[in-house]
This record gives sequence, structure tokens and C-alpha cells, in this order.
Amino acid sequence: MFRAIVVDEGKPAEIREVDDDFLQPGEVTIDVEYSSINFKDGLALAGNAGVVRAFPLIPGIDLVGTVSASDSPRFAPGDRVLLNGDGIGEGRFGGLAERARVRADALIPLPVTVSASRAAAIGTAGFTAMIGVLAIERHGILPAAGDVLVTGAAGGVGSVAIALLAGRGYSVTASSGRAEEEGDYLRRLGAAHVIDRAEFSESGKPLQKARWAAAIDSVGSSTLANVLAQTIYGGVVVSCGLAQGADLPTTVMPFILRAVTLTGANSVQAPLALREQAWAALAAELDLSLLDSMTTTIGLADALETGSRILGGTVRGRTVVDVRR
Ligand SMILES: NC(=O)c1ccc[n+]([C@@H]2O[C@H](COP(=O)([O-])OP(=O)(O)OC[C@H]3O[C@@H](n4cnc5c(N)ncnc54)[C@H](OP(=O)(O)O)[C@@H]3O)[C@@H](O)[C@H]2O)c1
Repeated sequence: MFRAIVVDEGKPAEIREVDDDFLQPGEVTIDVEYSSINFKDGLALAGNAGVVRAFPLIPGIDLVGTVSASDSPRFAPGDRVLLNGDGIGEGRFGGLAERARVRADALIPLPVTVSASRAAAIGTAGFTAMIGVLAIERHGILPAAGDVLVTGAAGGVGSVAIALLAGRGYSVTASSGRAEEEGDYLRRLGAAHVIDRAEFSESGKPLQKARWAAAIDSVGSSTLANVLAQTIYGGVVVSCGLAQGADLPTTVMPFILRAVTLTGANSVQAPLALREQAWAALAAELDLSLLDSMTTTIGLADALETGSRILGGTVRGRTVVDVRR
């Protein structure tokens, strides 16, 4: 028997004792050590039907652990592995349990220089931030091009994005609804400037003063529209989230008059090659002391409360779940 958080239709999420027969079919069985709480986990823990594709569900879009059985030639018992997305914690059972059985397609080895708990601290949020950084690089925006904006700065994607961009030498401006209380935190991560997110929250003119060479946006809606309107000629904006909303009230002006590129980040369906590239870059580049400074660790039972707090926008940085605690 092992402990798992289970979300069932119309009921609050709860911890249950289940056995291997409860798990879904999959090529690789894993003794899970750590998971994490992302915005999407907050939605799943609340039973949100847009995220939970089938009940019952074990939520948890991240897991890190050790292979106990494998039908995949890529993995053998004893291998340390990690998985972000690929439908776990949404359509298939995820990492908020002491055991998981998953497809091998998106599973990757734990980088040797990153501990299991730090890999969970990076999690989907850090993986997505690195996808954003790689997109900025792919579009040819180097640090000399100008300032890079990170929205939703004190959240998980935002915090890791600031550390990664500053580590690469970009001048980073952090936009946060907690600019006052989290200003020092954001500057310690590497932000050169911290601004109030209220500057972006309301709808604005289609073209505004050009300020950003690039941006990583976790917020969407009017915020993303204003960011596009303030991006310099040839700049790139990476849309990765919808904390404010899924709408995008913009015009064609930033595209046809400033040649701005709007691109996306999708951690769930990222192909294996991108997973390996992003994780190799995370292992090589992310300052682990900065990662530790943005990380809080909780036990499995605390995941329920943290899930509702992340939806309220009050969680700072990253939350690791030690599923055996
Ligand atoms: N595309 C992908 O593959 C992918 C992967 C991971 C996450 N995401 C998405 O990215 C977003 C961030 O995820 P996360 O795990 O980093 O969540 P998070 O830790 O909750 O961070 C989101 C941050 O957005 C800001 N925010 C919250 N509500 C807001 C509002 N109403 N208006 C403006 N800003 C608001 C807050 O930052 P401040 O307090 O600093 O303003 C909050 O900390 C979510 O929408 C998530 O679903 C997408």
C-alpha cells in the first residue's frame, strides 16, 4: 500500500492508501520521492474540470524518483528519473503519490549534478522558463539587445526565468503584484528593476513606448497585450501562462509596425529532444543557491492547502512536495 492524493468528482481532494492495482497501465513504475505544486496542480487539486480530464485522478504534473520496474529499453530498475507534464496530473495519474506508473516517452534521466529535491524545485515551472529562454536565444535576442521583461515575477515560472536570464547576462525587469513585499527577493534573483504589475493590467494603446527586447509572460490577457505594445522592433515575446486570463485583447500593430514575434511555450507536449536540451541547460546554468532561495518544501498533506494558495497568487517561487513526508 502507498499514499496518494486522489481527486474524485464533486469531492475535495484527499489522501488515500491505495495499492499498485489502483495505478494505470504504463511502461515504467517509479518510487516517487518528490513532486511540486504548480498553478495547474492548484487547479487539479480543486477538481477543475478544465485540467482534470478523468476522475478519479492522482494530481501532480511533476515527479522525481527511482525506477522500480520497466518495460522500456531506455530505463532499468534503480535509474533516477524525472518527468514534467506529458499529461500526468491531468489525463493520467501524476506525482502526488509515493508511486507512479507512466509512459516512457517523456521520462528523462535525472541530471547527475542536480539532486532529486532540486529537480522537483525546478519542475515544470523551471522547465517552462528554460523553454522561454531558449526561444529568446533562438530568435537572436542577445543581452545587448535591451531589457527583458518577466511578468508574474514572484511566481514559479517568473522566479526561475529571472534567475536564468540574469545568469545569461540579460538586464531583467520583474513585473509583480507584490513589488513592494517581494522586491528584495526579486532583486536577489537577479532583477535589475522591479515594477508594479498594475502598469500592465488594464487595456492600453495598441502601440506604446518601446521598452522590451524580449519578454517571458506567465499572465496573458491585457498584460500580454500591453507587453506586445511595448516590445521593440524585432523583439520576441514568449507566452507561457494565463494567470490573469486566457484572452488576448491585442491588435496587429505590434506585428506589422514593429515586427514583433509572439511565440509560445508548451511544457506538456514538449518533444524528448527539447526536454533533454532544456534540462541539460538547466543543470549547467541555474544557480542552485538561487534555486534554494526560491524553494519551500512541504509534506504530502500540505499540498492541499498550498494548491488553493497558488490559485490566489500568494505562493512565492517554487514549492516542492516531499511525498514521503
Ligand atoms: N505553457 C506551459 O507549458 C506552462 C508551464 C507552467 C506554467 N504555465 C502557466 O504559467 C502561469 C504561471 O504558472 P506558475 O506555476 O509559475 O504559477 P504561480 O507560481 O502561481 O505564478 C503566477 C504568478 O502570476 C502572477 N499573477 C497571479 N494572478 C495574477 C493576475 N490576476 N494578474 C496578473 N498577475 C497575476 C503572480 O505573480 P506576482 O505576484 O509576482 O504578480 C503569481 O505569482 C500559469 O498560468 C500556468 O498555468 C504554463
